Amino acid sequence: MSVRCYCLIIALYATWPVVGNTSSDGGQATLLPPYKDDISHRPATVDIGVISGRRQLVVMANSKVIFNSTTGWNKTAEELSYSLRMFVFSQHTGQLLTERAFNTTNHPQSMAVHPFLESLANGRILVVGIKTDALLNLPRVTRKFLQNMGLSSYELLLYRNYMAGILSVGGKTIAEATVYDSTIMTTGLYGTPVMIQATIPLLPASSCSWLSGAWSPRRKFCSEFDGYGELCDCDCDTPAALNWTPIPLPETTLQGTPLLIIGGNRPSSLYRCIMTVLGQPGGTKSHTLVSLDGRYPEVIALLELLEIPYVIHERPANKGKDVGLRISTHYLFSLKEVFRIFPDTTNAIVLEEDLLISPDFFNYFSQTSWLLEADESLYCISAWNDLGAMHTSRDRQKLMRIETHPGYGWMLTRTFFQEVTTEWDTLHQEHDWDIWFRSPQIRRGRECVIPAVSRSFHYGITGAHVNGVLTLAHFSGHIVSAQEDVQFETQSMLQPEYEKQIYAALLDSSVVFMNSTLHPCNKAYLPKNFTDGVLIIGFEMLTAEDYSSWGRLAGCNGLWNMDSRGHHNGLFRFTFYNTTVFAIGYPFSEYSWLIPPGVHVIRTMSGKQELDEISRLVSMNRMRFRVPDLEKFAPALLLQKANPAPEFVVIT
Ligand SMILES: *[C@@H]1O[C@H](CO)[C@@H](O)[C@H](O)[C@H]1NC(C)=O
Ligand SMILES: *[C@@H]1O[C@H](CO)[C@@H](O)[C@H](O)[C@H]1NC(C)=O
Ligand SMILES: *[C@@H]1O[C@H](CO)[C@@H](O)[C@H](O)[C@H]1NC(C)=O
Ligand SMILES: *[C@@H]1O[C@H](CO)[C@@H](O)[C@H](O)[C@H]1NC(C)=O
Ligand SMILES: *[C@@H]1O[C@H](CO)[C@@H](O)[C@H](O)[C@H]1NC(C)=O
Ligand SMILES: *[C@@H]1O[C@H](CO)[C@@H](O)[C@H](O)[C@H]1NC(C)=O
Ligand SMILES: *[C@@H]1O[C@H](CO)[C@@H](O)[C@H](O)[C@H]1NC(C)=O
Repeated sequence: MSVRCYCLIIALYATWPVVGNTSSDGGQATLLPPYKDDISHRPATVDIGVISGRRQLVVMANSKVIFNSTTGWNKTAEELSYSLRMFVFSQHTGQLLTERAFNTTNHPQSMAVHPFLESLANGRILVVGIKTDALLNLPRVTRKFLQNMGLSSYELLLYRNYMAGILSVGGKTIAEATVYDSTIMTTGLYGTPVMIQATIPLLPASSCSWLSGAWSPRRKFCSEFDGYGELCDCDCDTPAALNWTPIPLPETTLQGTPLLIIGGNRPSSLYRCIMTVLGQPGGTKSHTLVSLDGRYPEVIALLELLEIPYVIHERPANKGKDVGLRISTHYLFSLKEVFRIFPDTTNAIVLEEDLLISPDFFNYFSQTSWLLEADESLYCISAWNDLGAMHTSRDRQKLMRIETHPGYGWMLTRTFFQEVTTEWDTLHQEHDWDIWFRSPQIRRGRECVIPAVSRSFHYGITGAHVNGVLTLAHFSGHIVSAQEDVQFETQSMLQPEYEKQIYAALLDSSVVFMNSTLHPCNKAYLPKNFTDGVLIIGFEMLTAEDYSSWGRLAGCNGLWNMDSRGHHNGLFRFTFYNTTVFAIGYPFSEYSWLIPPGVHVIRTMSGKQELDEISRLVSMNRMRFRVPDLEKFAPALLLQKANPAPEFVVIT
């Protein structure tokens, strides 16, 4: 078995530069209390036992119960505990390092299995078991991956069949048991439970460079946790760096501009995010601030190890209730902190822990930040285009103005924050901060600048408001630019210039008005390769929030269809493959007078049945709107590729 030596990020985007000083490893021992690991007194073996079945999943290590999900005859509890579960033990101490449950009836959770397995350091002891069922909906790509890791039962395993397995990550299978029972498919019963037990020799510390070397923060961290790829990988010739040499961004205007990362208890996501921030030109530790919404030991240990500055917003006792209010309070706290800690900055950039950033992320903000000072009709610059799916955005130099606040990597000014702080401080009712943020009394007619091709990628499989189907339908197909030195033409984002530009495009003699009676879901409705001019589509829109007809056009064509985000005065701009489209909301849009009389305008959906049908279609967006030349660059897991070797997009 070859030495698997790539880190989390590399596994997703092979061309992302990950730069670091690999020769020095921490060395800040005095910052932390002395750590006593008992490597010298460690046991020689660990005994692991697993029971896997319909009503029981139990994992024991050295006779200690590590996990016990026993639901007996309780049908409700059983339904709630459907899972594929994984437990990771240290190969040196036999201690449990991390565990994860995947509800594989939920497709995107199945897709999260693979990245989790990729994030484990070589040599770890991995224990896998099934409670009730894990095979319904398990994607072929995940099944293959488990099989390739050494769990051969996944080749044949059926619905409601059970298995238990123990293996060394990147090494051999230690034990595996399964009972194949194909009668389940016809009888609807459950397979026979299985049980295995294995005594596994532990490895001496000398088998691992970082473990046997001098005491170090990395050694402490990696003895307790896993899920960080080569950060803790013994076999790797060049373990992930702890010290990044910042890559300077030439002619940056961002000197002193801090990057705030909003985080929770998702340490491996946060690690991925930080890796991409520090690996890009313009990213520095000293201007990064992580704000956590609670005191999470693993996350704090990670940030201490990486020496990233952080602040903690203590969680109120009534956790779980009023999720929106809690998030909003945390955002408010975080923004106050970033402007307090960086007293001289006029701007700040805000990220969330489940975002990855592109190589020209800082370059983009550096070139556009002046607009916030120069144009009072702007209140943010964002790295994200809500309509920036693979098949609807291609021009990485294009910028736009929109009325909504897309978030996902955005810049605001201290002045604007001061303006809204007083009102924000008074919000004590449950609310969504982002909806409040784009409400008329806060926005006051102002807009955000966005790129057509996003400069951030939303990696989260699930979040407070983001569920699996949504992720798959709307986020997984986004593309991100890979080139570092894109030059933007920013002058035309000033309000008067922008209007001139829009009118010039709309009044150009080459524009063509869509006058089709076909349903927008009809494959023949929207041409993919109309390049003779701008195609203008009219649809009914009564207010800025009315998306009853936009939802039809957008839902049918793989665009964000769940509200009216991403428009400018009722105008939505996107490219459908090679066709440049301007969609005008009639009569709300100030450009609606341009639509000639007698041209068909898309009307509101006919009712619940059509809405349901469109929702069903949307869940298949990634399959419906294939773009072969870009797909190989997208985070391929979510596209169900059998052997993902994705890279970053360089659009030529
Ligand atoms: C790496 O760090 C060491 C110690 O801080 C330093 O001497 C060395 O020059 C650095 N190497 C690079 C490539 O930056
Ligand atoms: C697991 O929990 C069940 C129910 O609480 C209990 O009956 C059973 O003995 C436990 N199993 C082990 C191995 O502790
Ligand atoms: C069955 O399990 C559910 C969920 O854990 C629990 O709420 C319920 O009280 C249980 N019912 C019985 C009869 O034990
Ligand atoms: C698992 O996912 C399925 C499908 O999304 C859902 O119906 C079920 O409630 C989930 N179970 C748990 C315990 O979350
Ligand atoms: C878009 O244009 C490019 C370049 O002309 C061409 O290679 C590609 O096939 C076109 N795509 C579609 C869907 O028409
Ligand atoms: C799209 O148009 C371009 C330029 O006219 C042409 O080269 C290309 O072959 C077309 N692609 C398709 C799929 O029709
Ligand atoms: C649009 O198409 C309809 C037929 O569906 C036709 O009657 C009408 O004249 C067309 N409008 C224009 C402006 O061509």
